[in-house]
Amino acid sequence: MMFIGEGPGADEDEQGIPFVGKAGQLMNKALDAVGIEREKVYIANIVKCRPPSNRDPEPDEVENCIDYLRNQVMIIKPKIVVLLGRIALQNILGMEYKITASRGKWIEKNGINYIPTWHPAALLRDETKKIDFLCDLKQAYEKLLNIE
Ligand code: URA
Repeated sequence: MMFIGEGPGADEDEQGIPFVGKAGQLMNKALDAVGIEREKVYIANIVKCRPPSNRDPEPDEVENCIDYLRNQVMIIKPKIVVLLGRIALQNILGMEYKITASRGKWIEKNGINYIPTWHPAALLRDETKKIDFLCDLKQAYEKLLNIE
């Protein structure tokens, strides 16, 4: 299983590890709660450098990083990819997808099962999204167990 986020924040930039800041710590708790071991999943980001002030990555920044991510996917060969938030969803599956309409719904493309969900930082801003996030992770884990 692979998770794709947006891009490193200040903590991730400093440590060189994705999702180690506040949003990452919340994601760790959610992974724990549904029984997913963080060490057994692969976590990547759309862009590999921190956009200044945590703004959305610009199209040319995504363009510069997307081949690296494609190679990560080719090497990992995930059966399931959890797309964390709008930026991951739209850059992987297409700009026509909306996170509000797509979250929690499976989308199969080129033999990979994608499930879009909220970005963990969105849960920090709006606690009511936590339940969706947990449900989506649970669905992802159950599908993985059924595939294996
Ligand atoms: N947000 C992301 O999208 N990725 C990280 O690695 C950290 C925060």
